[in-house]
Amino acid sequence: MLNRPRRLRKNPIIRELVAETRLSEDMFVYPYFVVPGQGVKHGIEAMPGISHFSADMLVKDVEAGLKLGLNKVLLFGVGEQKTDDASSAYHDHSVVADAVRALKSAFGEDIYVITDVCTCAYTTHGHCGILKNDYVQNDETVHVLAKMALSHALAGADMVAPSDMMDGRILAIREKLDQHQQENTAIMSYSIKFASAYYGPFREAADSAPNKGDRKAYQMDFRNPNEMMREAYLDEEEGADILMVKPALAYLDVIQQLKNNTNLPVACYNVSGEYSMVKAAAKAGWIDEQKVTMENMYAFTRAGANIIISYHAREILENKWM
Ligand code: PBG
Ligand code: ZN
Repeated sequence: MLNRPRRLRKNPIIRELVAETRLSEDMFVYPYFVVPGQGVKHGIEAMPGISHFSADMLVKDVEAGLKLGLNKVLLFGVGEQKTDDASSAYHDHSVVADAVRALKSAFGEDIYVITDVCTCAYTTHGHCGILKNDYVQNDETVHVLAKMALSHALAGADMVAPSDMMDGRILAIREKLDQHQQENTAIMSYSIKFASAYYGPFREAADSAPNKGDRKAYQMDFRNPNEMMREAYLDEEEGADILMVKPALAYLDVIQQLKNNTNLPVACYNVSGEYSMVKAAAKAGWIDEQKVTMENMYAFTRAGANIIISYHAREILENKWM
């Protein structure tokens, strides 16, 4: 026998030497849910280990995270006044804008702050935009998103991440930011975001479930590989700095295809349902949490992701799982 692949698997040293995929703590972005008030740290039932934080408590938690090397956070606002026009999403002192200011005044350049830009947690109906006759109005919504992104940038956000899936929003946000001298604020686009049942736990966390209908008239159909590349190219042309695929686990082929067809960094979002499934099965004793979690992280990297947004990030670094 001339070929014995097992020779290179003989012991941990040779296995490390020939490992083709490597993970680094620098790849992780950790999501946070920010709520109004003070002294709030309240666990989210559907997402074990994840909490709602008020800005002051967020600063404390991020301080501990920084010591582990977790210096990139993605903020979601929850608990603001819900209106039909989503106006609480973009006022100067929205829960997210204030949290950005708190983080920046505590840590300055040591923390990289990314904000989610979408209206679903701020609208009475829970849709990712302005609703008229049961249809989310594209251009009107884009206008709101641009204002929301600008309010985050002016508060000090390093990057904004629009997650709504309206057409033309990347260009509108880029122009709005540039008009207000925020040309160095980066845009990470949720470019290939599918209408997915894996967002279930998040909608509880963000109180953002649509009260009627679904998101299929704006989020993508998961059966469409050609359409997904079209979405990605449009965002690239419109000035996105980073393209994201979401969810991640059931979409490794999508991550790979995108990586092979763009020169932009590719991010993937290991979403709430993916996280909570691992947590639930581990709690039941059916899987080894550490091993399954790390197998998933390597899968994202092997598929081509440069950036991993994951609720697991904190525990991975805390427990030195890599
Ligand atoms: C809102 C938004 C969602 C997620 C991120 N931004 C949910 C949705 O589109 O309904 C999902 C994140 C997760 O499940 O972890 N636009
Ligand atoms: Zn939304």
